[in-house]
Formats: sequence, structure tokens, C-alpha cells
Amino acid sequence: MRLGIISALAEEQHGLIEALESPYKLVHGMREYTAGKLWEIDAVCVLSRIGKVAAAMTAAILVEKFGVTHIVFTGVAGSGDKNVKVGDIVVAEELIQHDFNASPLFPQFEIPLTGLSRFATDRALTERLAGAAAQTTRVHRGLIASGDQFIGKLTQIQALKTALPDLLAVEMEGAAVAQVCFELGIPFAVIRTISDNANDEAAVDFMHFIKTVASRYAYEVIENFCKW
Ligand code: ADE
Repeated sequence: MRLGIISALAEEQHGLIEALESPYKLVHGMREYTAGKLWEIDAVCVLSRIGKVAAAMTAAILVEKFGVTHIVFTGVAGSGDKNVKVGDIVVAEELIQHDFNASPLFPQFEIPLTGLSRFATDRALTERLAGAAAQTTRVHRGLIASGDQFIGKLTQIQALKTALPDLLAVEMEGAAVAQVCFELGIPFAVIRTISDNANDEAAVDFMHFIKTVASRYAYEVIENFCKW
């Protein structure tokens, strides 16, 4: 296994790059990729920056240029369910692009020519991540929705929940990585710590969480995952 680890922001991957043994850095396409050994696992860490295009580009380059065989995305998300609280972890079983709509040509959410609106994560990677995360906090498993929008209004998250009743979390990258990995045949998983409730307070809660808590979670969970 050669594992690609992607996060959008530095805080979401805090400490991991420093934990890489014999690190080797390479800049490509405005991103710095750091390869090395992470608790005995051959790994490449990179920050995608925010959004679906940024994440898709990063995932494709990890596979095509760095030869990764598996990808894990780790970061924070807004809650999409009243039982999913700030500080909980959501491990994706499926991902959907909530802002994708080519209707009436294709059903809402369906990615043309794949016949799919939801992409399933790799079962073995997902089990291992959920097991690792359970050592840190409460873990939920299910649907994560991604879109090129920060969800920061109660009316926005309510509308998404109406369209996708089994929604657990919202973020801005996971489903893009899912599509790239599906198309390239690469097993992948997504793990998200809940930073906010995707409501009118989301922006303030998000900033607070990112500054104070996010980095601790990222390190702990990936360390447990690698040692699993
Ligand atoms: N990532 C963390 N919180 C989010 C939110 N409320 N909307 C989109 N992405 C997020």
C-alpha cells in the first residue's frame, strides 16, 4: 500500500507531515507533496486547498504522479443531522455532490455517464478508519455531501436535509475525491470531524474549531489508523 492523505487546510493535517520519516518534498501544480514513512506505512501527504476542483486535481495527481494505491481524506465538516454533534466524527460510507444538477438531461445529483449519484467508499479502509476514530470520540457512518459552498445558514442545511434525509455531514471536497477514485479504480475513504452545525453560527464555530481542536483530532486518528 502507498497511501495518499489529503486535507484541505493545514490545521486538518497538523503534525502529520512532521511525523513522516525520511520526508521527500516535491512541488507540483501549486501544491507541496511530502512522501515518507508514516508509522511504517508508505505515505504521501498533501493539502488540496478548498473545493471540489482543488480536491479532484490533488487526488488525480496523487495517483498519476505519485503512484498512490489508496487515498484517505481527513478534515472537518458541518453537521447534517441533529444526532451528529460538534466533536463527533463521521466516516463516509457514501458521498454525493449536493450542488450537481444536470436535470432535465440527467436526474438531480447523478454524475453523467457513471449512472451514479452516490459513490461508495472502500469497505476495508472505512472499517479501519472508523475503528481508529472510535478510540478518540463518538463515530457515525453514512452519507456525506460535498459542494462548492460553505453551508452557513439554517435554511441551507434544512433544504439539503429535505433533499437528502440520510445526510450526516456537509463539506467541500470528499465527493470530488470519491468520483476521481471511482474513475481511476483507487480504494478511498473520507473521515470528518464535526466543527459546526452548518447553521447561522457555522462560520464562527468553524473558525474556533479549526484554530483550537482540529489539529489534535487529525493526528490522533491517522496515527491510530496507521498502527491499526
Ligand atoms: N466544512 C466545515 N464546516 C462546513 C460547512 N458548514 N459547510 C461546508 N463545509 C464545511
